[in-house]
Amino acid sequence: MRSLSFRLLCLTIFFVMLSEVLIYTPSIARFRLTYLTEKLDKAHLAALAIDGSPDRVISKELTFELLDHVGAYEIVVTGPDGDVRSLSRPMRPPGEVHVSLHAPMPLELVYDAFDALFQTGNRILRVTGPAPMDPSATVAVTLDEFPLRAVMYDFSWRILTLSVLISVFTAALVFVSLRWLLVRPLQRITGSLVAFRQRPEDRSTDLDDRGRRDEIGVALRELGLMKEEMRAALRQRTRLAALGTAVSKISHDLRNMLATATLISDRLSMSQDPDVQKVTPTLVKAIDRAAALCSTTLNFARETPPLRLSPVRLADLVDDLRQELEAPRGGSVRVLASGAETIELQADRDQMYRVFANIASNAVNAGADLLRIVAHEDGGRAVIDVIDNGPGIPEEGRGRLFQPFQFSSRRDGTGLGLTIARDIAQAHGGTLALERTGADGSTFRLNLPRYTDA
Ligand SMILES: Nc1ncnc2c1ncn2[C@@H]1O[C@H](COP(=O)(O)OP(=O)(O)OP(=O)(O)O)[C@@H](O)[C@H]1O
Ligand SMILES: [Mg+2]
Repeated sequence: MRSLSFRLLCLTIFFVMLSEVLIYTPSIARFRLTYLTEKLDKAHLAALAIDGSPDRVISKELTFELLDHVGAYEIVVTGPDGDVRSLSRPMRPPGEVHVSLHAPMPLELVYDAFDALFQTGNRILRVTGPAPMDPSATVAVTLDEFPLRAVMYDFSWRILTLSVLISVFTAALVFVSLRWLLVRPLQRITGSLVAFRQRPEDRSTDLDDRGRRDEIGVALRELGLMKEEMRAALRQRTRLAALGTAVSKISHDLRNMLATATLISDRLSMSQDPDVQKVTPTLVKAIDRAAALCSTTLNFARETPPLRLSPVRLADLVDDLRQELEAPRGGSVRVLASGAETIELQADRDQMYRVFANIASNAVNAGADLLRIVAHEDGGRAVIDVIDNGPGIPEEGRGRLFQPFQFSSRRDGTGLGLTIARDIAQAHGGTLALERTGADGSTFRLNLPRYTDA
């Protein structure tokens, strides 16, 4: 019942019936008009019989016969020069409804036709209009409405049966062709999509487009291409996952080996031998850097811990940043903030601090001594710009700033800081992007959800 085919079937029947109703309305009005005009014509003819008799008087019997033939109680024909011919029965029911056929309006005809259809009893109509054969003469006929209604019902019934037949037939044709052209291909596409989601590697459910040139053909081709790309991405992902595991294991073991090396280098640094004393600092530094690299890699490979969301004041994060950057460097680095007091974020405080710390440490490492944090609200979200006065980001790195291990201009940098910062921002439902960079500094823009009570 909810399928596309069934709805299409119902819609087609409905539309065909609707168009039949639109056709029926003028035709029933036309039908009534023709019926009444014919009556005027017959009445005109009957009245002319008077002229044929001597003294223009006809017998009662002939009068009744003529009136019966027309189906009227009374006929009055007025000629162009005012001469009147009339035929009438002595007895006729009282009361009459006047119907004028002198230049009738279409809407009026439609209204009168439906009015006639919905009557319950018989009405006596007095129909006046020009004689169809001689428009200069005016004819007035008084007759029963009942026979007119009977033929109108008959006509309507025929139209209704025909409409039902036509609509069922058309609907069946439309249904079959739509099913063939649209619904079945759609069902195949849906089936193939479901199968692909369950078993992406299984190619047996792939569809061929059979050279179709229509929209379905395009959908089939695009679907095929998309599946291939997805499969390639999945294979790549599996390889990367394996690689990630291997790197993690190596880093882990390497870190343990480096721990041993650190112990030995500590012992070496106590040696009195001047040659040994000369090389140990370099050795210790190299080992420390290697150990730090192992730790960062391990941290990155680990899944990001789940967020513990709470209201976090941006001003507090800025204060923490000041403490980390300003004091230890003897005040050579300054952190300024504007708009931060009013902004409260919905965030995991520790992780969000990492975002700011990573962006800020990059700026300081690049040589900036002034950081400005400018925040404002935009559509219920917080937009935070971190602006530094450093030398800008080297041209070759700008395209791959946020890709892990891809770009670092520092000797001991891993190229992970910005990737981590962006991952955290995205986990919060936000974004991090490089807004601008140049010789006078760089701006990173964070867009983050604000804290709400709800
Ligand atoms: N504000 C900045 N000004 C100048 N260069 C920047 C700035 N921010 C980032 N960079 C450049 O982008 C590179 C990548 O930064 P990212 O934080 O990802 O890695 P990293 O700082 O090199 O290493 P780490 O993983 O230790 O943070 C940096 O090495 C630096 O060259
Ligand atoms: Mg960094």
